[in-house]
Amino acid sequence: MTAGTDQVKPADVWREADDAKKFLDQAAIELAAVKKELDALLQVEAGSHVLDVGCGTGADVRALAVRVGPGGRVVGLDSSEQLIGRGRPAGPGAAPVEFVHGQAGALPFPDAAFDVARAERVIEHVPDPQAAVAEMLRVVKPGGQVLVTDPDHGLWAPDLDDRRLTRTIMNWWSDHVPNPWVARQLRELFVRAGAQDVRVKLQPVVLTSLAAADALTWIGKAAAAAGAQGIADAEAARAWGEEILRRDAEGRFLMFGTFVVVTGTKK
Ligand SMILES: C[S@@+](CC[C@H](N)C(=O)[O-])C[C@H]1O[C@@H](n2cnc3c(N)ncnc32)[C@H](O)[C@@H]1O
Repeated sequence: MTAGTDQVKPADVWREADDAKKFLDQAAIELAAVKKELDALLQVEAGSHVLDVGCGTGADVRALAVRVGPGGRVVGLDSSEQLIGRGRPAGPGAAPVEFVHGQAGALPFPDAAFDVARAERVIEHVPDPQAAVAEMLRVVKPGGQVLVTDPDHGLWAPDLDDRRLTRTIMNWWSDHVPNPWVARQLRELFVRAGAQDVRVKLQPVVLTSLAAADALTWIGKAAAAAGAQGIADAEAARAWGEEILRRDAEGRFLMFGTFVVVTGTKK
């Protein structure tokens, strides 16, 4: 008898990550197409003031500083003191960058301080997604833009032989982040926060190795966790995990997913 998949929460593997920088750098490689789309959507120009909420290692902050140039300003905010402490300048010809320790739900900035605020793979982790979106809108100027993107954790699709077991484990494993369905909820969060001209775009992600998939979903930990937590029969979960390793070793691993990108404007 296995436990109901809605009764046992998977561990929050993000907090367990012992090398967050390595994980974020690998994710950035897998998300090159997503980041290109975000760059195209972002209404940033020379001299813009930009906020990156949940900036992680600050790689996007530095890229934005080059884009807005020396007349602009780019601020990265993150709740991790460990990551924010590693923030580096963007180099000559770029805007000055600032790294600030803080919470997305209570941004330490005055109203209308920025032209644009963005958050990439952050709202899925915050305690109050509605407060985070409202705060991003608060700190942009009237006419300013807010952009948020997250993957929908209910839509990760690995190709594995046992469809029933895959559905069971993946459905359960999607809860390893605090807000697994926030991507599909973002439009409502923007509308409720009073954003105008709210637009939704989808961006597919194709992952052809376990290392790539682990950078975004930690699927490599799912089999052992499902067996240990009684979500699936321990032997069946072990075999499921071995199939992932076998497919990866034989170069035929595939998992895909969907990022939801929502933009809105402040009235
Ligand atoms: C998956 S990482 C994404 C980092 C970066 N945006 C990127 O795309 O590489 C999530 C980041 O959100 C930060 N974070 C989580 N909860 C937060 C909160 N409540 N306020 C601010 N940052 C938060 C984490 O510390 C982490 O750096």
